[in-house]
Amino acid sequence: MSGSPQLARIIPAERALEEASRLLLAGSVIAIPTETVYGLAADATNGQAVARIFEAKRRPSFNPLIAHVCDLAMAERIARLDSMSRTLAAQFWPGPLTLVLEANPHSPVHELATAGLDTVAVRMPVGIARQIVARIGRPIAAPSANRSGRLTATTAAAVEADLGDRIPLIVDGGPTPVGVESTILSVQNGQLRILRPGAVTAEEIEAATGVAVAAGPSGSGVIAPGMLTSHYAPSARMRLNVRTVEPGEALLAFGPHRAEAADRAVATRNLSATGNLAEAAANLYAHLHALDATGATSIAVEPVPATGLGIAINDRLSRAAAPRDNDEPDG
Ligand code: TXA
Ligand code: MG
Repeated sequence: MSGSPQLARIIPAERALEEASRLLLAGSVIAIPTETVYGLAADATNGQAVARIFEAKRRPSFNPLIAHVCDLAMAERIARLDSMSRTLAAQFWPGPLTLVLEANPHSPVHELATAGLDTVAVRMPVGIARQIVARIGRPIAAPSANRSGRLTATTAAAVEADLGDRIPLIVDGGPTPVGVESTILSVQNGQLRILRPGAVTAEEIEAATGVAVAAGPSGSGVIAPGMLTSHYAPSARMRLNVRTVEPGEALLAFGPHRAEAADRAVATRNLSATGNLAEAAANLYAHLHALDATGATSIAVEPVPATGLGIAINDRLSRAAAPRDNDEPDG
């Protein structure tokens, strides 16, 4: 970035539509809330604007971005929708399901946003994000609004801490209701594969389509950054599925029953005291941020059941716990 750092203005969502739209059409990168997490948004048809996303995020440029649309007609300009994807769109859009589809050859989405692939990730978000897309009449490319390798932001304050000196505007919609990213579902020849677990579960997709859902990356093609081991990483080490808290650790708790020696934790946050997985998902990043901010060198994490939304939560936790490749370029 050149010049002296500017600081982002934070505007409540109710008053942000006009300025957000103006900035996006001018090629700026801004942060906007979606129902899942905050997104770092740019006009998906403008390659330079998309490049500024990677610049702000320090994201390796081989990572493709999601194109956010406001309606089915815009989705069809970007991708080829077959009957399976129409069924999924009718059931889950607007909402936290991203479909990876065959790209429309006339798609207006810049190839920097699709990483040159012949598939494209499309989703229709809830709320102000969708209103902004409708207002500008163009898809928005928006990865999660955190620097690459950092924790995902679910509040305007978290975006500001991570990216506030790199973007002109943060649209503040309050804490995001879902709290984990959208489910990424590949739809190919009627076959369904979850590339990244998220807010919509395999069971819900199977119920809506009557088709069995595979999970994990297929043999070839792109590796989603959500699958890079270093993607979700607090500074503290993470110990998962702990039965006993070690001296000096912070504790990320779940449910009504505490791990042994929980009273020695330097700080404790409970994802959900009642063991509610949706509540736990919504709290996940905020609690990790808070425990990381205590400066504890290790965060002990109580077991979270690997069912339903718990699969996405455990996926994020194990990435946060994975060995780090190296540190971020500028700390
Ligand atoms: O909830 C969300 O999905 C948030 C909000 C802002 O919409 N966005 C988000 O974007 O999480 P991002 O860029 O952090 O994650 C998008 C994921 C990446 O793992 C990327 O590799 C994958 O989608 N992806 C994008 N295009 C793809 C494609 N053509 N094939 C396979 N994976 C793709
Ligand atoms: Mg992300």
